[in-house]
Amino acid sequence: NTTTDIWIRNSEANILDSTLTNTYSYNTAVDSLGLLGPTLLMERNMTSSLNFINELGVETTAHQHGLHVSGMNDGGPQSRILPGKSRTNVLEIDQPAGTHWYHPHPHGNTGEQVIKGLAGLIIIQDPEEINSLPNLPRSYGVNDFPIIIQDKSFNTDGSIQYDAQKSYGKRGYLGDSILVNGQIQPDVSVPLGWIRLRILNGSNARFYERGDSLSFSNQQQFYVIASDGGLLSEPVSTTSLPIGPGERYEIMLNMNQNQQLDLMVGNRNILSLVADLNTYDNSQALLPTVLANVPKALNQKNNVTRTFKLSENMTINGKKMNMQVIDEQVPLGITEVWRIFGKGARHTFHVHGCSFLVINRDNSEVPLWEKGWKDTIIISGKRPVEILVKINKTADRTAPFMYHCHMLEHEDMGMMGQFTVA
Ligand code: C2O
Ligand code: CU
Ligand code: CU
Repeated sequence: NTTTDIWIRNSEANILDSTLTNTYSYNTAVDSLGLLGPTLLMERNMTSSLNFINELGVETTAHQHGLHVSGMNDGGPQSRILPGKSRTNVLEIDQPAGTHWYHPHPHGNTGEQVIKGLAGLIIIQDPEEINSLPNLPRSYGVNDFPIIIQDKSFNTDGSIQYDAQKSYGKRGYLGDSILVNGQIQPDVSVPLGWIRLRILNGSNARFYERGDSLSFSNQQQFYVIASDGGLLSEPVSTTSLPIGPGERYEIMLNMNQNQQLDLMVGNRNILSLVADLNTYDNSQALLPTVLANVPKALNQKNNVTRTFKLSENMTINGKKMNMQVIDEQVPLGITEVWRIFGKGARHTFHVHGCSFLVINRDNSEVPLWEKGWKDTIIISGKRPVEILVKINKTADRTAPFMYHCHMLEHEDMGMMGQFTVA
């Protein structure tokens, strides 16, 4: 069991050629990156405590998106960390191996703090999963790579362009540049053979879908192996993958036929994977045929227990987020069906404290990569999306869980609600 100190700081980063950019970043004793935060490794059945120390000069909170922890340790908007103060979240890791992330959640200011640089990955490792799937690539930075995708615009002085007072409207903030791991169009050196990418759409509001779905040069085929909450039941082969704000997918691809593969958004190259013949013998990494046991929740008859209507006036069920109001009371450990409507517009819907299963999407087939554990889901706006939700962690009025649109400008404008679990 470990405790990690994380300083939340004003920093600067080398993003543009011409000038340094003022940023926010998460720093540990071993890593200070100038932008984003170090990837935190946590092990199942262990307790990892994160002690966040706020040196920003403004209020923040620190939330672990995707982790099943109690409201007290969830870092939602109520769990304020005032300037100069700190707060420890005690994380008892009790969920499958997977890729999650941490980011601030102060009500009304999440968009600004995330775009300035506050985000990092959390990887949960599970000794049992390592035993049962020994050949999955899992050497971090060697054949297993974090890929954080975020768009930003810059002012001429190099600063990040963002106006927290401005309404970015229905589409939210859309930046001119698409960064990967805080850099514009980086090269990453990878071994030959199978590699794994842990992809987070950490953009404030940009969807990579339809013509802008993630793909590779040469229409290279790849395999989705995990969704937000852990491994799928089996690899899903595809040449393109949609991902909305807040979602994660892990993919595997084989570099054997390629010296270089570019990760594309539409016809924009956002990252080049360059095979390095000399770095590492990757021959142990293989694509398994079977991954994990994900319950098949399809076609079952459950009654809808809650309905959420996301509207263009930034409300859910006609209400804006109010720090003083608890919107829903959810029973502990009971499976419910939640039905979410976008009312003609596109959003992503995220629920704290759990992973859920998608049982109905737009009245048609649920895409295979969505048939795994999720905590954030694209709402297309045409037809409802139904999810099976079961929450095994408690949250009281002092530190409730949230459900919200993960387009951060929508969330900041009030498209969020609070719920207790008991
Ligand atoms: Cu990614 Cu409520 O958070
Ligand atoms: Cu979250
Ligand atoms: Cu939205």
